[in-house]
Amino acid sequence: SRKIIIDTDPGQDDAVAILLALASPAEIDVLAVVAVAGNVGLHHNANNARKVVELSGRREVPVYAGCSRPMRRTLVTAEHVHGDTGLNGPVLPDPIIPLQAQHGVDYLIETLMSAEPKTITICALGPLTNVAMALVKEPRIAERIQEIVLMGGAYFEVGNITPAAEFNIYVDPEAADIVMRCGAPITILPLDVTHMVQSTKPRLDAIKGLGNKSGQAVYDMLTFSEGFDLKKYGWDGAPLHDPTVIAYLLKPELFAGRVCNVAIETASELTVGMTVVDYWHVTDRPRNANYLRSADAEGFFALLTERLARLP
Ligand code: BDR
Ligand code: CA
Repeated sequence: SRKIIIDTDPGQDDAVAILLALASPAEIDVLAVVAVAGNVGLHHNANNARKVVELSGRREVPVYAGCSRPMRRTLVTAEHVHGDTGLNGPVLPDPIIPLQAQHGVDYLIETLMSAEPKTITICALGPLTNVAMALVKEPRIAERIQEIVLMGGAYFEVGNITPAAEFNIYVDPEAADIVMRCGAPITILPLDVTHMVQSTKPRLDAIKGLGNKSGQAVYDMLTFSEGFDLKKYGWDGAPLHDPTVIAYLLKPELFAGRVCNVAIETASELTVGMTVVDYWHVTDRPRNANYLRSADAEGFFALLTERLARLP
């Protein structure tokens, strides 16, 4: 099975992604979950990561905390979407599993440097601060990473936190820039994909109908965060972002896109955090990312529901 490290700011949709990965041990071996500041502050995100790991019944999976703020900028958070704890909605018990003492960035470096090259994939579900800091502190990890699969950015759907930028990239554009240029294989699940994967009422009812603790928790998470998105977009359902990263590992055939250059705007005040995607190959800049732009939503929700059924 494929070894991954989940770097995340849970976050209801992050939590669903973590559960999807932990429900799929035949294909995915989750080495650790590393928290980063993003949706809310690091303390809450790390605590939420522990709660979610515990909910899955996989207490052996260690949880680390990484950076508490972006590389250069003041942290921008999204309590208006995720609630004050970052994971409002379900009532989850205080976690028993500990937070690991080692810093998340050092864990990333140590793990990548001691494993066989190209055997570990990083799944990044929040701002890219931890991944970029690891690349700065130990540049040799770049050639040892199997792949970075990240949720972030947008091209056709443009922005969700500013008219030009998607949240994860906007919060730490300098970090995103470092990651895009690092040379490791990158696959991107942008808003173009996640806006096609909507948690409509029948899809959420099917998850609640599983009758297990995890299904109920996912239902409560997604009905909470959905409230905000339904108003914002006026669609039947709300986009489900981060779980697409794990679904891509499980069933890449659910997604389509192309390899092209992706660059990050870090200077302009108006468009900072914009992902500039050379989708039509109009430049000769290096083709650094597998940029996905569409998803099979029915197939995605069938997979998610089937996997959640396996959890407690
Ligand atoms: C991203 O921002 C966060 O709020 C979500 O968890 C997701 O990672 C979507 O723009
Ligand atoms: Ca996230």
